[in-house]
Amino acid sequence: TQPLRLGIAGLGTVGTGVVKIVRQKANLLAARTGRPIQITAVSARNRDKDRGVSLKGYAWEDDPVKLAMRDDVDVFVELMGGADGPAKAATEAALAAGKDVVTANKAMLAIHGQELAESAEELGRVIRFEAAVAGGIPVVKALTEGLAGNEITRVMGVMNGTCNYILTRMEDSGLPYDQIFDEAHQLGYLEADPNLDVGGIDAGHKLSLLASIAYGTQVDFGNVELEGIQKISIQDIRTAAAMGFRIKLLGVAQMTGRGLEQRMSPCLVPADSPLGQLQGGTNMVVLEGDSVGQIVLRGAGAGEGPTASAVMSDVIEIARGTRLTTFGQPAAGLEKARPARAAAP
Ligand code: NDP
Ligand code: HSE
Repeated sequence: TQPLRLGIAGLGTVGTGVVKIVRQKANLLAARTGRPIQITAVSARNRDKDRGVSLKGYAWEDDPVKLAMRDDVDVFVELMGGADGPAKAATEAALAAGKDVVTANKAMLAIHGQELAESAEELGRVIRFEAAVAGGIPVVKALTEGLAGNEITRVMGVMNGTCNYILTRMEDSGLPYDQIFDEAHQLGYLEADPNLDVGGIDAGHKLSLLASIAYGTQVDFGNVELEGIQKISIQDIRTAAAMGFRIKLLGVAQMTGRGLEQRMSPCLVPADSPLGQLQGGTNMVVLEGDSVGQIVLRGAGAGEGPTASAVMSDVIEIARGTRLTTFGQPAAGLEKARPARAAAP
C-alpha cells in the first residue's frame, strides 16, 4: 500500500504534537486508514531548536514554500499561523503543486478561506481545518457530517479559552481584569498579539468559519459584530451573579429574516446552563438543528494534544480517501450571505 506522506510546516505547540502522534501511533494510524502515514519533510524557522521530539529521518526545509512543493509530500500540513505571509504563500504553493492541505490556521481561513477553497476545488484538492475551530472538539465534522441532514438553526459557543479563563478567574478571585490579564500573560496563555484573544478577534474568526459551514455561505469575518472582554469589571460580574447569570464571551450565528447574524461579544448566560457552568480554559459549542434539536460539545479548545488530535483527524480522513470539500459543499456554490447588520433598518 502507498503511504500517505506528510510535509509539516511549523514545529511549535501543534506541530510537535502532530509529530508525536505520527511517531507514537504508527500502527494504530495504519490500522485505521489501511495505509502507513509518514512524515517525510518538516520546516520551521530555527533548525537548531530542541523541540523535545525526534526529527530523525525527516528532510528539513528552511522555506515552507519549498516544503509544500516537494515531490515526496502528498499532504501539506500548515501549522505556522498568521493570516498572510508564509502560511498563505505555502498553502497556495501546495495546492498548485497538487497537494491536499490540512491547517489549524483560523486567521488565514477567516480572511482568505473562500479564495483558498475555490482554488483547491479548481485544482481538485481539499483543504481541511478541523483544528482551526475549538481545538480538540470535532465541531467541523459534527456540522459537515453528523448534522448534514439538518437545517442548522443556530450555532453558539465559547470559542476562546483564554477569555474564558480570564472571566472565570475574575469571578473566583474577585481580582480586576488588568491583574488577571497579567496573570494569563505570565502563564503564556495569550497570543503574541493579546488583542486577538481579549478583543474577541480569534473567537470571531472561528465563529465566521462555523457560520459559513452551517449556512453554506462564504466566510464573512468582516461582518461579525465584535466586542472583547477588556471592559468587563468585577462589578459587572457581581451584578450578573446576583441575578443568577455569568458573563461569557459568547459567539452566536443564526440566519434571520434579515440575513446572517454573527455576533461575538460578552453575554449574560444563566449560571445553571451548560454554557454558564463552563470553567477555565475550556471551550463549548452548542449546535441547534431542526431535526436533531440541541447538541452540546465541550472540551479543550487549545493545547498540544487536543489540537494535534484535530489535525490528525483531517490527515486520517485524507488517508481514507475522503474528498469532502472544505466547507462541506462545493466552494464555488457558496453564496455571499446578506449580513443582518447591514440589512437592519
Ligand atoms: P507556535 O508559535 O507554537 O509555532 C509556530 C511554528 O511555526 C514554529 O515552529 C515556528 O518556527 C514556525 N514558523 C513561523 N514562521 C515560520 C516561517 N516563516 N517559516 C517556517 N516556519 C515558521 O504556534 P502554534 O503551534 O501554537 O500554532 C500553530 C497554528 O495552530 C496557528 O495557526 C494557531 O492559530 C493554530 N492553533 C493553535 C492552537 C494552540 O493551542 N496552540 C489551537 C488551535 C489552533 P520556530 O519554532 O523555529 O520559531
Ligand atoms: N488563543 C486561543 C484560545 C488558542 O485561547 O482559545 C486556541 O485557538
